Amino acid sequence: MGKYVITGGNRLSGEVVISGAKNGVLPLLAALPLMKEAYIYNVPFLSDVANTIKILESIGVKIKTEGNIIKSCVGELNPVVECGLSCKMRSSVLFLGSLLSACGQAEIAYPGGCALGERPVDLHIWAMKMLGAEVTERDNAILCRAKKLKGADICLPVQSVGVTENIILAAVLAEGITVIKNAAREPEIGNLCDFLNMCGADISGQGTKTIKIKGVKSLCPCSCGIISDRIEAATYMIMAAATGGELFIRNVNTDHMRVISAVLRKCGCIIKEYDKTIYIEAPHRLYSIPYIATGPYPYFPTDVQPQLMALMSMADGQSLMRENIFSGRYRHACELNNMGADIDIRDKQTFVINGVKKLEGTEVKAWDLRGGAALIIAGLCAEGITTIDNREFIERGYESPISKIQNIGGKIIAR
Ligand code: UD1
Repeated sequence: MGKYVITGGNRLSGEVVISGAKNGVLPLLAALPLMKEAYIYNVPFLSDVANTIKILESIGVKIKTEGNIIKSCVGELNPVVECGLSCKMRSSVLFLGSLLSACGQAEIAYPGGCALGERPVDLHIWAMKMLGAEVTERDNAILCRAKKLKGADICLPVQSVGVTENIILAAVLAEGITVIKNAAREPEIGNLCDFLNMCGADISGQGTKTIKIKGVKSLCPCSCGIISDRIEAATYMIMAAATGGELFIRNVNTDHMRVISAVLRKCGCIIKEYDKTIYIEAPHRLYSIPYIATGPYPYFPTDVQPQLMALMSMADGQSLMRENIFSGRYRHACELNNMGADIDIRDKQTFVINGVKKLEGTEVKAWDLRGGAALIIAGLCAEGITTIDNREFIERGYESPISKIQNIGGKIIAR
């Protein structure tokens, strides 16, 4: 595993251009078996994207990449996603819906992904059954079969992003109407629905808790862009806030950033919004947040919990943070404590953070993608040198982090 070496203490300033969203591109790529050809632009270069392209090629979708553009062309599909590929990322489970829809069957080895505690796939399987699939589980793989999927009313017991997307992918060519109740409302789901609608699908209600999918006979070729990555944007905003800096964050959808901007304003940051740009200026005095809890969109995203924790560990006063989505998203807290933070981990999901005057550079480890981003933020503020092990986790979801951070004055190198 590779490392990042960071020399802390520089104030970040300048501008960062935000890439296409990781959580936007992965479902769109999973949808590619459904249409003969497609053209996707604003694709971020990430290891998760490279891995998804390997899955696509292994199942018979030819992919050409040119800069940030992907062109796809479907050949004869083989509906089996092998373990060596699916175990690398959680979103491989989305091929269940798309392959079932495109071929009437799908076999997927259990998906991997960041270790954030228990991440079951029970609801994905349940949803496929609701649409009429026969599901068996054997040898660490999920096998689904359906001559013809049939639309159904599906009320989700939890607002799951992946399950909402999987149902959409499966229902788009099903017979009849599917209604998802208590659907997740993340903007990346809207990106997927817009793409499918441009290909001739009939989906409405995305962005609300009720999504309606009228099955169509087939989808046609089209082109679609990936929305801006709100989690990457939030990470750079927090980097500016933590280092006493100021940044212009370009290519963002300011609507998607509302909760992040509101929280950072509470910390004392000055935030101005322009068309597709956010300007952030760090405060002289960084205030703590008395209480913050993560939740499904439009609430505070779990994918920004670690970065905000790094910020709060240097704020003035005490913050109470509650992680409501994942049971094991806390290991970054231990690493931040190794750097001198004062975080009391109450039950792996509740954290009492007492702001300290300074963090100190040391050797730490990224245990997952966003936890790794939190350590970069901490390292940029810490006294001395911070070495972050397992940088591959961070590269799963951040495009060109080294050059983007160096361009705004951060001292970071890869080793
Ligand atoms: C997606 C995002 C991830 C983000 C998460 C929550 C992608 C590629 N990943 O992950 O970055 O952190 O949403 O915003 O978009 N659950 C079950 N059974 C299931 C499926 C989910 O119990 O079969 C639970 C999960 O354990 C979790 C909750 O549902 O507690 C929400 O998770 P979910 O929205 O499904 O996360 P992902 O789609 O995996």
